[in-house]
Amino acid sequence: VHNDPEVPEGGTLGLGVIGCGYWGPNLVRNFGESRRARVTAIADLRPERLAAMRGRAPEARTTTSHRELIEDPAVDAVAITTPVSTHFDLARQALEAGKHVLVAKPLTSTSAESEQLIALAAERNLVLMVDHTFVYTGAVAKIKQLLDDGSLGELLYVDSVRVNLGLFQHDVNVIWDLAAHDFSILAHLIDQPPLTVSATGASHSGSGLEDVAYVTLRYPNDLIAHCHLNWLSPVKIRQTLIGGSERMLVWNDLAADEKVKVYDKGITVGEPGDPDYYAAAVSYRIGDAWIPQLARHEALALEADHFIDCILNGARPITGGEAGRDVVRLLEATSASLREGGRPIDLETRRPAEAMR
Ligand SMILES: NC(=O)c1ccc[n+]([C@@H]2O[C@H](COP(=O)([O-])OP(=O)(O)OC[C@H]3O[C@@H](n4cnc5c(N)ncnc54)[C@H](O)[C@@H]3O)[C@@H](O)[C@H]2O)c1
Repeated sequence: VHNDPEVPEGGTLGLGVIGCGYWGPNLVRNFGESRRARVTAIADLRPERLAAMRGRAPEARTTTSHRELIEDPAVDAVAITTPVSTHFDLARQALEAGKHVLVAKPLTSTSAESEQLIALAAERNLVLMVDHTFVYTGAVAKIKQLLDDGSLGELLYVDSVRVNLGLFQHDVNVIWDLAAHDFSILAHLIDQPPLTVSATGASHSGSGLEDVAYVTLRYPNDLIAHCHLNWLSPVKIRQTLIGGSERMLVWNDLAADEKVKVYDKGITVGEPGDPDYYAAAVSYRIGDAWIPQLARHEALALEADHFIDCILNGARPITGGEAGRDVVRLLEATSASLREGGRPIDLETRRPAEAMR
C-alpha cells in the first residue's frame, strides 16, 4: 500500500480498535505510542469501557458500533480484540471495507474461517496479521537463535506450563485460550509441523469448556512437546523447558530479569560395542549455566511496529493469516482428540492416528 493516497502524508496510519476489555487497551497504548500511527477510533459494546478509554486515547472517536468504526474514513487499519467467536465476522467486515486487519489470537473459531480471511485479504491486497504476541518477545527471539545456531543441538523436547487462576473466557476452553500461545511459539521455533496431537482435559466450572488440560504434540525424530494449561491454578506459572542434545534451557516468562537460563547439561549414551557400555550406558554431562541477554522491548510494541511496516512498506507479516490458520488447525485437532477421549489425531488426515494402521 506504499504510495496509497489513502495513507495520510508522513505515513501516519489511522488505527481503529474493536474491543477494549482486558487486552484491547494494550494495543491502544502501543499503537498510540507509535510515531507512525494514531488511534483514531475505538469501539466496544460496553459504554463503560469506552469511558475508561477516553482518558487514554483522548483523540479517538468512541462508539458502541463496530460498523461505524469500520466505515470511518479516518480508519486505515483495524485491530480486533474481542472474544474469539466474534473474530471472523468482524475481520471479514473490516477486510470487505478495505481495511488492514490485526486479529487477537486465536485468529478464528475454525480453520475454514481463517482460509476465508486469508483469501479475502489476498484478493484485496490487504494485510491480515494475527496477534501471536509471544513470537515478538526477546525470549522467543533468543531461543530461536540458540536453536538455529546449533547451541542447543538437536531439539529433543519442549515442556510448557501455562497456568493461573482465570481469566476464564466464555466462548473457548483453556486450550483455545492458552495453548494458542504455545502453538504459535512452537510453530515459530520448529521448522516442521507436528505429526499428531492428543489432548485430555476436564471442565469444573459448569460451562462444559475445559479449564484444565494436557496437550501432547509429536514431531518427526521423536521430538515431543507437552503443554499444561490450567485456569484453576493457585499460582501463575509461565515456564517452558527446552531440551536439546547439546544444551537445555529454562524460560521463566514471569522472571523480571534472567528469563532464559541455558544449562550445559546432557547425557552421553555409550555405543553397544564399547567395552564400558554395560557399566556406563548413560553418562551425565554437567557444565556451566549462563544467562543470555534478551532484547528488552515490549512484544506488542515490536508487533505494532511490524504491522505498520507491513501496511506502509509491504513487509511480509511474521505472523500472517497462514500462521493464524495453522494454530487454529492445531486447536481444532485438540478438540477432536478431546472428543475421542485423548486419542492422538493425525494432523494430515485429521482422523485418529490409530485408524491409519
Ligand atoms: N495476546 C495475549 O497475550 C492476549 C491476552 C489476553 C487476551 N487475548 C485475546 O484478546 C481477545 C479479547 O480477550 P479479552 O480477555 O480482552 O476479552 P474481554 O472479554 O475482556 O474483552 C472483550 C471486549 O470486546 C467487546 N466486544 C465484544 N463484541 C464486540 C463488538 N461486536 N463490537 C465492539 N466490542 C465488542 C466486549 O464488550 C469486551 O469489552 C481474545 O481473542 C483473547 O484471546 C490475547
